[in-house]
Amino acid sequence: MRTKLLFQCNECGAETPKWVGQCPDCMAWNTLQETVIEKKTSANTSRFREHLAGPAEVCSLGSVDASETPRQKTGLVELDRVMGGGLVTGSVTLIGGDPGIGKSTLLLQTLSSLDRSSAVASLYVTGEESAQQVGLRGQRLGLSLDSLRILTENHLERILSVANKEQAKVIVIDSIQTVYSDMLQSAPGSVAQVRECAAQLVRFAKQTNTSLFLVGHVTKEGALAGPRVLEHMVDTVLYFEGDSSSRYRVVRAVKNRYGAVNELGIFAMTDKGLREVSNPSAIFLSRYDDHVSGSAIMVTREGTRPMLVEVQALVDQSHLGNPRRVALGLEQNRLAMLLAVLHRHAGISMSDQDVFINVVGGMRITETAADLPLLLAIVSSFKNKPLPNNMIMFGEIGLSGEIRPVQNGIERLNEAVKHGFKQSLIPMANKSKEISSDMDIETVTHLSQVMEKVGL
Ligand code: TYD
Ligand code: MG
Repeated sequence: MRTKLLFQCNECGAETPKWVGQCPDCMAWNTLQETVIEKKTSANTSRFREHLAGPAEVCSLGSVDASETPRQKTGLVELDRVMGGGLVTGSVTLIGGDPGIGKSTLLLQTLSSLDRSSAVASLYVTGEESAQQVGLRGQRLGLSLDSLRILTENHLERILSVANKEQAKVIVIDSIQTVYSDMLQSAPGSVAQVRECAAQLVRFAKQTNTSLFLVGHVTKEGALAGPRVLEHMVDTVLYFEGDSSSRYRVVRAVKNRYGAVNELGIFAMTDKGLREVSNPSAIFLSRYDDHVSGSAIMVTREGTRPMLVEVQALVDQSHLGNPRRVALGLEQNRLAMLLAVLHRHAGISMSDQDVFINVVGGMRITETAADLPLLLAIVSSFKNKPLPNNMIMFGEIGLSGEIRPVQNGIERLNEAVKHGFKQSLIPMANKSKEISSDMDIETVTHLSQVMEKVGL
């Protein structure tokens, strides 16, 4: 295959034969990236002519075979859950996460479990560790290693030729950043290499109906390296979340062509590898009885399960002109917005205070039901008064200070009752007769009523 190298602008698509710092067309800086252009060969052109002669057939959607795509249970229930019910044959999954969080461990366990439950032929391609290292890890995890096949290689063309020969049904590439292709001159891990190698691997997976897992590293900013280009190419994107100091690991689906997004799978890292946590609703609480200020317990519903999660805040006199706003596990912009609402509609100003917030256990909350507990944790820390013991809360706060209902209110309250919580503070519109009478429910419609209800 004859190939040609070109540099293409990410912003406007302009092409230049040489790299330059500034795009000559749109004048954007640092946007030119190496790309491979396949030369039109005569074979290509004649194929094109054939297409012209007999165009591809158009069919009605109703006649398409839309039966469920076949799924293979991986044997790890939590992983099956995030993937929407199992591994889809021929699908490409990207798994991202911080170094050392457990990506390689999870995939090794998955391959072993697939082999045990349904004897699926698999191939583990590693460009980061030696076969010996992976073997040692497998031994430590107590996996049966005989049928696990491993390839230590990071040259794309060789990987593809081995994969073709081996006829594996599941392939793991650990990691996509270490793979390089001869077609490009840039170093392994560069955007151009990652994009081109991933594209070729995805094409291979689709052509041969192989399920492919790509491991991707995240950058310091938390995005998958080789930026978002990879997310568009693959069917499913899973992110590993969790504190390295906590033993719990959360796998979240951020994109899924075969299932719901934001579904969570929860694992605990033990000395025998990752263990599934099938009833995770109370693992993100740090306490039950002690009475401290700056802590609120909420019921979140990420994915399809309600979970009790503790939100903590620390508010302290700032010595900086620009007070600090630090949010771990929640969105920073949302925090800034809520502080403005707090000032405007409850008359409490944080303009000379540093505000730090944290979700216990390295959990990340993406839903707005965290607004009410978050603000209350902040006010509780600011006034140094604890919130009522045994109280759970949830609710979205609007810009005019109104407290809006959230989805699945009843389910959240029932989960809290199951864990022995007796009081709750919820949006008025979430109140329903179906809630267990064990729960004492306070309802609110506006931020101005909230402080009084919780004694702040
Ligand atoms: P690993 O899967 O190598 O992470 P990644 O591929 O995401 O970089 O996980 C390594 C971490 O997991 C390492 O810090 C040690 C820990 N670990 C355990 O605690 N128990 C185990 O059984 C294994 C295999 C790893
Ligand atoms: Mg690894």
